[in-house]
Amino acid sequence: MAKALVCIGCGYQALQWRGRCPECGAWDSFNEPRSGGGAPLVFIDQIRVSSDSRLRSGIGEFDRVLGGGLVPGSVVLLAGPPGIGKSTLCLQAAAGFRRGGHRVVLMSGEEALEQVAARAARVGSVDGLEAAAETGLGAVIEHMGNTDVLLIDSVQTLRDPDSPGEAGSVSQVRASTAAIGRAARAHNTAVLLVGHVTKDGTVAGPKTLEHIVDAVLTFDGDDGQILRTVRSTKNRFGPTSEVGIFEMRSDGLAEVADASGLFLSGRLSDSAGSVVGCVLEGRRAVAVEVQALVSRRENSAPRRIAEGIDGSRLGVMAAVVEKRAHVDLSGFDAYARIAGGLKTADRAIDLPLAIALASSRKDRRVPEGIVALGEVGLGGEIRRVPGTDARLAEAARLGFDRALVPPGTASCRGIRLETVADLNAAVEHLM
Ligand code: TYD
Ligand code: MG
Repeated sequence: MAKALVCIGCGYQALQWRGRCPECGAWDSFNEPRSGGGAPLVFIDQIRVSSDSRLRSGIGEFDRVLGGGLVPGSVVLLAGPPGIGKSTLCLQAAAGFRRGGHRVVLMSGEEALEQVAARAARVGSVDGLEAAAETGLGAVIEHMGNTDVLLIDSVQTLRDPDSPGEAGSVSQVRASTAAIGRAARAHNTAVLLVGHVTKDGTVAGPKTLEHIVDAVLTFDGDDGQILRTVRSTKNRFGPTSEVGIFEMRSDGLAEVADASGLFLSGRLSDSAGSVVGCVLEGRRAVAVEVQALVSRRENSAPRRIAEGIDGSRLGVMAAVVEKRAHVDLSGFDAYARIAGGLKTADRAIDLPLAIALASSRKDRRVPEGIVALGEVGLGGEIRRVPGTDARLAEAARLGFDRALVPPGTASCRGIRLETVADLNAAVEHLM
């Protein structure tokens, strides 16, 4: 077998020599893995593993998404669009790390320190946080010594004099991030690196960096919404798909403990096209309202517009409703959304979505107190989804007493299961 060559910049492996690393952009960086004179071999079972050296921010939602806290020596990228709350979260996390007795240093390249101080006053003081308005890579790395947590806001402002391009360019952010990763490991410092994502194409965004960092947290939320979600899309030391839910308030980000309550608040239970489902976000079940609006469209191709749900999934569900439940949608636009601004790819949303479409088209509301759970196949068959017990328990906790479920679903205290094998039966059962 051919021996892989390893980029000394970022650890990228290639079978053939390359002049330039496709990962971090470094030139002439490929070497054979060291042999002879390198690190000695050790027995893995003789290495002492500290059971929990993670640094906790004390912000439950944030620590959970990280897998329990920041790991010393690792780099976590906090990515999101401008204005979403990245700097705010950093500052609140910094306050938490300080309360835990850790040394925390903030490198602010985005904002003057007066602005940072003004934000700190707003979210509650951050005692003992040290900060500098610094963008030079060398100086930033120098501040890593004797520091437990280094916050860098943002990677796009870092300037590596040895790399080509302007600050914020792909070559600059890659080289800076790779250097910061090496320094973090050497100093055993945990680094939280803020990165901007632009709405149009993510220049120098997380896609460019995800192979260089240990974890990527993606900060999301809709314009004009107060809701913010933080997801781990990559995590070398913890779970992915875990989500933290926050509300942006006038005094900073507040954790949302009862996510279901938030998503279901303001629901008009007597309107057609509204059905409650329950999605699994990480290990947590969250009840959501799926809304559909079907309206006639004359003389042009009908539109399918989705918010919070994959657009093509809406198209598929509309076709299945039409063909398998015999509800005519051909001359109609269909809009669908998850109320409250959550985005989900959970297939358990299929059944409430399909029923919501039929309900809106027929203008018949679904009885109150019902939750619907299930994936819908192209044949209209309803399939079980993972974590049904957690979803039913959450629905029961919220006072739902009936659940529309596929055959074979195990019972749950406090909620009556109504079994339906296919979509046609489900629609007939409810409307
Ligand atoms: P910010 O953390 O600066 O976002 P980012 O660093 O991702 O660009 O927060 C931006 C928005 O949040 C800004 O529009 C003001 C709002 N905000 C609040 O609503 N409450 C607060 O307590 C703070 C600090 C900010
Ligand atoms: Mg900011």
